This record gives sequence, structure tokens and C-alpha cells, in this order.
Amino acid sequence: MNLYKYVSDAINEKLGFVANLEIPRNREFGDFSTNAAMVGAKIAHKNPRELAAEILPKIQELDFVDNANIAGPGFINIKIKDDFILKNASTPQPQTANTPLVIDMDYGAYNVAKSLHIGHLRTSIVGDTLNRIFRFMGHKTISYNHMGDWGRSMGMVIAWIKRIHPDWPFFQDNFDATMDLSQYTFDAAELNTFYPAASALAKQDEKFMDDVHIITAELQRGHPGYNALYNIFMPVSLKSMHDTITKLNILPFDNNLGEKNAALYEAPVEKLLRDKNLLVESDGAEIVVVKKDTDTAPMPPVMFHNSRGATTYDATDIMAIYYRKLTDNPNKIIYLTDSRQSLHFEQLFRIAELTGLFDTKNLEHIGYGTINGADGKPFKTRSGNAADLDDIIQIVTDAVRARASENNKELDSNTIDTIAIAALKFNDLIHDLRSDYIFDPDSVTSFEGKTGPYILYTAVRLNSVLKRATDAPKLNTHTLSPDERNLLMAVMDFDRTIQSAYENRATDMIANYAYNLCQLINAFYHSCPILRDDIDVQTKQSRLYITKIARDTLVTVTDLMGLKIPDKM
Ligand code: ARG
Repeated sequence: MNLYKYVSDAINEKLGFVANLEIPRNREFGDFSTNAAMVGAKIAHKNPRELAAEILPKIQELDFVDNANIAGPGFINIKIKDDFILKNASTPQPQTANTPLVIDMDYGAYNVAKSLHIGHLRTSIVGDTLNRIFRFMGHKTISYNHMGDWGRSMGMVIAWIKRIHPDWPFFQDNFDATMDLSQYTFDAAELNTFYPAASALAKQDEKFMDDVHIITAELQRGHPGYNALYNIFMPVSLKSMHDTITKLNILPFDNNLGEKNAALYEAPVEKLLRDKNLLVESDGAEIVVVKKDTDTAPMPPVMFHNSRGATTYDATDIMAIYYRKLTDNPNKIIYLTDSRQSLHFEQLFRIAELTGLFDTKNLEHIGYGTINGADGKPFKTRSGNAADLDDIIQIVTDAVRARASENNKELDSNTIDTIAIAALKFNDLIHDLRSDYIFDPDSVTSFEGKTGPYILYTAVRLNSVLKRATDAPKLNTHTLSPDERNLLMAVMDFDRTIQSAYENRATDMIANYAYNLCQLINAFYHSCPILRDDIDVQTKQSRLYITKIARDTLVTVTDLMGLKIPDKM
């Protein structure tokens, strides 16, 4: 039950107008506080404190109210009945949306032949949790790994392979696509070295750069040798993406379709743009002007075809929108990338509206901040390189292992991995996604405080109590102890929390909720012994009942964050 909404609606209905309900910081004064008397006094031109005295009996009549009293200038504080709490606190259930939406979610968006790096961490982790939240709220999501698989970086990789293996058949005029190509393979690690090497060379070698441009354009136009080579390294790259996201416990993408797939829709999109007179010739390139008279910030045009006729990143994104409209026809498309791509998406959304494909209000870009090292600059590995996602996972895993042995905990390597992933993900989720944060592998693995390990530890503890119990959990009405009460109130605050996490696209609300819940669970655990011999059966049963609801709520939240709970810790 969404207790907050229930109480708020009941008060509004009883009084006949809409007041604001708050959760007081200090729970001693009550579970909720309403400004109904202030709102009513304005309407009726009365003194708020006098009106509060008139309203008070009406509020006291409500079935869930234990007691209510007037405070300050006319606030009414309300305490909820214990029985009501006990009867209505329950495990959160997936919701049914009033208007279920179809939402295309574009996150992850990895690049072929480049390893996943720190810049892909937040789009993966936050994107996955947003996806799970949207589904929990009853919407249908279709997730897209919109891969960078068709642009200049592909030309770079192919040009590099050509440079180191000029004699390979892919580069010969008499290339025969039906020949046996099985000896031409790469492993992922080798493949990932090509792009950085090529891009470094291209910076100093103009001739090589020209080659890259030509190869890119020829690849896109269907050059048989380049395409055959592409089809060899593509699956290697897909597999390595898959391995990393499996490690991260991220739901598989519904679609691994990126720029290459989008580019198949070039002709209809070009026609659409031409029919609306949106394509403008400019120095041999074709551009779309997206500037409006009302703009105060610079709004450059979008390049649709560059002067070499190659398709740009911007152009493929328009085509991807076209493709999604044609196939999913979603109510919304949500993109999750680094905030430095904000301008790109602003331009894109304007084109979508100009072409009539989508209203900008149904296109959303969520831009996240940078992950920095202790020096406040983008996080690097000790060797000074931009960190690969696999390196980061390794660093955190090592930190967890060190901590476990410090605390004389014997944990198998599966458990260590599970804890490490939780540490990394929870730390990412608890930060406001729109801001930068400093990543410290050591502090995120602490077993105490706002960390993934602390969340898992609490869940393991409850699981263990429930496993060891010989009595069945049972609802026995009784006066709740303060810790029982606080815990169940938090359980009943889940629905409100996920609603705001959904509305605000704020995964930190879920992570903070999880942390608060765990603190209340541990307070309850310490003040209300459960399995001890001197505890009478009735008390044992109801404490187990509360334990079970709390555990199930915590499991719901850890699922939303994509964390796995180990058997022991
Ligand atoms: N592949 C791009 C990158 O790694 C992100 C793509 C985001 N999605 C999109 N539809 N543009 O930066």
C-alpha cells in the first residue's frame, strides 16, 4: 500500500479540498503532518489555528488515525494506528499503469571494436535500473543497445588491419566472398588495440587519415572485402560486450541494433527531409538547419551527408528514430548518455519534430555526469589510461577480496564477484545521476555505510534468520515497538518512493531508500531478538512476520538495482 497517498487522499476527501501532507523529520510529533488548516483558512478567510480546531475532530474520525493534534501556527500532526500499519504493510507488488506506455530505451550504446570504458558505466547501470523501474510501474520498455558500428571508427579499424596485413584477401581486387575465411580471426583483446593504434596514427599521418575516410565510405557503400572483414570482427565485439554486461548483471538488451541497422533507412529518411525542404546544400555537404529565432544559445546545423557522402552519427540517429517509429511506434524514446551529448540530442529532437516523426515532448535525453578520480579529473587507471570497464570491475573485485581477508571472512570467488558488482553498481546508483562523482574503489567496498556490501549484508542476515526459523511468520496484532513501527512505515513508503523515482528518473531515490530500509532493519534486528529461546511464540511469529515483509521489500529493491544477494557473507 502507498500509505502516504492513502492518508493524503483520505484527508482531502474528508475535508473537500486538497492539502499538502508531509512526513515530519522528527517522527515523535507524528507520522504525517498536514497543512489542511492553513489551506482551508485561506479559502474560508479564517484564522488557521481556529480552523485547525474545527478540522481536528474530522481527522480524528478517520479509521487509520490513532491520534491527531495541533502544532505551531495550525499544522495537524497525525499518528497512524499500529493495527492499521500491521494489517496493511505488505511486500511491494509490480504495478499496473493507468496508461501503459511503450518506451524505447536507448542506453549502453557500446562501440564495436572498442572495449567498454568508464564512460559506459553509468549508462549501463543507471539505464538498466531505469528500465527495471519502468517495467515495475507497468510500462512496456524496449531496450536498445544502439551500437557505434558503422561510422569512422569502423574505417579506422579496417584501415589498421589493412596496414598490418596488406596481403589479406579482403584488400585484394579479386576478393572472393565465398572462399574459406576461417583463418582470419581476432580475439577481443587484440581487436581492442586496433582502434587506439589507428586513431593515434591518423592524428599525425594525413595519408592514413584519408585512407580511413575512403574505407569508411566504401564500407558503407557495400565494399565486399571490407564487409566480409567487418562480419568477422563484429561477433567478436558483440561477445565481449555480452560478457561485460553479464558480469554487471544487466538485463540483456531487447535489441542490439545500432548505426548500421539505422543506415538501412537512409533513403526514406532522405526523402522525408527533402519533401519538407529541410535539406540544405552547404560546401558539398547536406545539412539540416535546426536553429529557431528564440534561441539564445548557439544551435549549429546538423550534417546529414558530409562532403564525402558518408553518413554521420547525427544522421544515423535520425534514421534510428525513423526505424523505431516504424517498428515499435513507441510513446516515448529515452536516451541515456554522458551530458556532453546534450546538444546532439537537442538537435536530433528538433529534426524529429520538423519531420513530424515525434513531438519533442516524447523524446527525452538524460545526461549523466562524469566519474572522476581523487584528483577531480576523469578516472584513470594507475597506468594513466582511461579505464576500461573490465579494469574497473577488477579493481573493485581486488578491493573486496582484500577487505574480506582483513576481516577474516572466507568467501568463495563467486561471492566476492557478487559483492564487487554490488559495490560498483550501488555506488553509481546512489549518486545523483546528473552530477559528477568521485570514484574511490576502497570506500565503495566498505561493509558499513552507504555501500552495496552493506545492503547485501543486511539481506543475507534476514535470509539467514528466515532460514533458521522453525516457527512460521504470523500476523499477531500487538503494540508495535518503535523499531518495528519505523521499519513497517518504511515498507509502506516504498510505493511513494518508486513513484517519484519513476517521475524524476532518479535512481538515487531507490538506492537511498534501500540504505534507509537497511538501517531500520538492523535497528529492528538489534532491539527485537527473534529466534532467542526466551522469546514467546506469539512474539517470535510476529517478528518473523515483520522480518519477512522487510526481507521481501529489500529483495524487490535489490532486484530493481540489479544486485544479486549471496548465500553468505
Ligand atoms: N555509441 C555512443 C557512445 O559511445 C553513444 C550512443 C548513444 N545513443 C544514441 N542513439 N546516439 O558515445
